[in-house]
Amino acid sequence: MTALGSHAADTTLLAEVEAALAGTLDAHELAPRLREAMRYAALGGGKRVRPILVLRACEAAGGRRADAMPAAVALEFVHCFSLVHDDLPALDNDDLRRGRPTTHKAHGEALAILAGDGLMSVALEVALDSPRRGAEVARELAAATTGMITGQVYDTLGGFPGSPDAATRLRLIHDHKTGALLRAACRMGAMAGNASDADLAALTEYGRAMGLMFQVVDDILDETQSTEHLGKASGKDRDAGKLTYPGVFGVEESRRHVERLLAESLAAVAPLGEAAAPLADLARNLATRTR
Ligand code: IPE
Ligand code: IPE
Ligand code: MG
Ligand code: MG
Ligand code: MG
Repeated sequence: MTALGSHAADTTLLAEVEAALAGTLDAHELAPRLREAMRYAALGGGKRVRPILVLRACEAAGGRRADAMPAAVALEFVHCFSLVHDDLPALDNDDLRRGRPTTHKAHGEALAILAGDGLMSVALEVALDSPRRGAEVARELAAATTGMITGQVYDTLGGFPGSPDAATRLRLIHDHKTGALLRAACRMGAMAGNASDADLAALTEYGRAMGLMFQVVDDILDETQSTEHLGKASGKDRDAGKLTYPGVFGVEESRRHVERLLAESLAAVAPLGEAAAPLADLARNLATRTR
């Protein structure tokens, strides 16, 4: 069993994703220094939750996995871009990511900014090349990227519309900075699998609940796990004055929140039956992950 589920084909799936990520960058015409920084940012480990979600959502909707691979690669590139920029001194100012120096520590700030930009633009090209419903897949990715950036603004700078209370601000941050890409993973997979409207709606609801759950767990891990175990700095959110679930509700209530969101994720895909079993398995594993 891998970190992401007990489903038999998981290891193969992960290997397919890694090969597609590397192959896509290798096939692209890029300035040598940019390629090096983009490879560092995109190929340096990571759980690959988002591409696996894309592929599993496609299969849950009755599609072929191969049809969703461009969407999976594109989304993981955007995620890697978000991490590279999230770690920059102007944002979270982190030195460690995926168990090694962050991209700006290894390649300098200029290349880190440009590698992030490059991952985003290549991602859009790749998404447009999706064999099924390519324009729809690319539009979904672009909109989710805007959503993620919106969340990063709220997380880092505040400036919320109106005067929402802390719980509402927290929800706005998390639904955007993390929820947007995870929800898009499910939707892009569904689109690449040519899902029916009903299946797309079910997978969207699964992605919404699971996406929020993922960041609540990330907040809990920041408070409860070591830097060494996580491969990224822990215990920083509170010091940085970040609005987090444990900060607002406490760790125990945050864990109950995870349970509720897990139940919502599972209920959303229940109508899809056995085809969605890997997604249910994945949600259960992401609820109890420790890194
Ligand atoms: C980290 O995401 C950033 C968040 C949105 C919480 P992941 O926990 O998926 O990071 P990697 O890709 O496995 O490194
Ligand atoms: C992740 O939020 C959001 C994005 C990267 C878009 P965090 O700042 O909590 O992620 P980590 O903890 O650095 O991975
Ligand atoms: Mg951040
Ligand atoms: Mg961060
Ligand atoms: Mg975090």
